[in-house]
Amino acid sequence: MSDEHGTRRDFLYVATGAATAVGAGATVWPLVDQMNPSADVLALASIEVDISGLEPGSQLTVKWLGKPVFIRRRTAEEIAEAQGVAMSDLPDPSARNANANGADAEDANRTLDPEGEWLVMMGVCTHLGCVPLGDAGDFGGWFCPCHGSHYDTAGRIRKGPAPENLPVPPAVLSGDTIKLG
Ligand code: FES
Repeated sequence: MSDEHGTRRDFLYVATGAATAVGAGATVWPLVDQMNPSADVLALASIEVDISGLEPGSQLTVKWLGKPVFIRRRTAEEIAEAQGVAMSDLPDPSARNANANGADAEDANRTLDPEGEWLVMMGVCTHLGCVPLGDAGDFGGWFCPCHGSHYDTAGRIRKGPAPENLPVPPAVLSGDTIKLG
């Protein structure tokens, strides 16, 4: 695999057998054809992801319903940074969390666990749909190179044209597994 992601500690888990380019001018997913699932598997609305191997400060990208989903195990520093942000500094005041409808964008309303270690988000920029890069940008979270949107360590938009925080999909943490959908 090329080193296009630099030193980012990302792991890619691609649950399809087809290479996909997401968004115009966006990252083209490196293909790891490790599972060769059948068509009915591709159509599953719900998947379970083994997160036992994920160290703090690393993230896994899985494909769910045809879109990338970022699963990040945050470090204590990332959590503290996200928790320390004033609501008035957030362009989008909504948590955008399918598991916490109507909640505000406080860090605690974005994560799956009370400790704030597990952050799960759609990996699709809310501007025009590119795939943001992890461990990047002015706020230490994600950066979308298409038009320069910066997201913080809770995936909240902080700078650039993207209008909304990266959405949190329906997800449940249970032991070493995260269920999406
Ligand atoms: S698509 Fe991400 S900044 Fe435009």
